[in-house]
Amino acid sequence: MTETSSETRFLHAIQIGLGAWQWGDRVIWGYGQTHTDKDIREAFDVSLTLGVRFVDTAEIYGSGTSERLLGKFIKETDQPVLVATKFFPWPWRFSKGFIPRALKGSLERIGVESVDLYQIHWPSPIMSPETMMEGMMECIKQGLARTVGVSNFGQKRMLRAYSTLAQHGIPLASNQVHYSLLSREVEKNGTLARCKELGIRLIAYSPLEKGLLTGKYSSENPPPGVRASRYVELLKKLPPVIRTLQEIGQNHGGKTVSQVALNWLICKGALPIPGAKNLQQAEINAGGAGWHMTEDEVARLDEVTDNIREYSK
Ligand SMILES: NC(=O)c1ccc[n+]([C@@H]2O[C@H](COP(=O)([O-])OP(=O)(O)OC[C@H]3O[C@@H](n4cnc5c(N)ncnc54)[C@H](OP(=O)(O)O)[C@@H]3O)[C@@H](O)[C@H]2O)c1
Repeated sequence: MTETSSETRFLHAIQIGLGAWQWGDRVIWGYGQTHTDKDIREAFDVSLTLGVRFVDTAEIYGSGTSERLLGKFIKETDQPVLVATKFFPWPWRFSKGFIPRALKGSLERIGVESVDLYQIHWPSPIMSPETMMEGMMECIKQGLARTVGVSNFGQKRMLRAYSTLAQHGIPLASNQVHYSLLSREVEKNGTLARCKELGIRLIAYSPLEKGLLTGKYSSENPPPGVRASRYVELLKKLPPVIRTLQEIGQNHGGKTVSQVALNWLICKGALPIPGAKNLQQAEINAGGAGWHMTEDEVARLDEVTDNIREYSK
């Protein structure tokens, strides 16, 4: 593993974060129906109390609502918060200048002068990784972002982004990708190993597989909305995974299914950012960090999920 650069060291010290897609998203997450601003505020507050300070948002979450709510909460707390947000590569954003411009919009919504991590949300057929990184460097030069990263980048694109930045002495801080016990593609295709080798923090999104790894959903009781149809096959494979998570939780003083699922990611060297709709969820998720399951337990979870990886999409 390479030395982590001083600029990105803070990111490697974070064990767990808080995802903020739920803050404003009605289509998938039912904002306004299953959770209110008060619930979200409580999730934020309890996270800070429990030492979870890294919040992941994006300009597209709730069309800016997530960033606005985060900004409001930051203004009302005296505790330090580490902010990560993302640039969305809409097709009409075709040149590097759109990147610092979009970040200025995010900064205005959040009400801060700079963010700790600015990420490219998705790769784009319109802008190359090289052009995108030129835009990201501009963000650093202008003091708008402390570090920069990518999201949903496969190894090839990630390496192109890494090299472009490296030519200017800037580290690629992170790659945020889908990674959970039920979606282990990044382990199998070498992205996780390559990130470790290059000092790039792998941030794991959907670490609870959108609620499936909490133990509350089953084929008989599927998640609401669009998640139900997407996860029909996966739900059938879930019972042995949940049983193993429960057993490991019992070995560690009664950790919950969610906490064990998150801890497995931490043991793998990833930074999970579970989304939370309310105080209870945020409180449980914070307890995914601060302890370690044994290597044997990691291996047991590897084994029980190995056979179901093809159903992860
Ligand atoms: N870069 C990207 O392209 C990308 C893509 C996806 C997500 N993300 C980021 O990653 C974050 C997390 O991913 P995600 O939101 O997709 O999925 P997730 O973290 O796997 O699941 C979150 C959902 O699970 C349920 N939940 C969470 N904690 C729980 C608990 N302790 N007990 C019971 N239920 C619980 C809640 O939904 P219900 O209560 O409705 O079941 C919650 O909305 C997002 O918020 C976002 O910041 C990034």
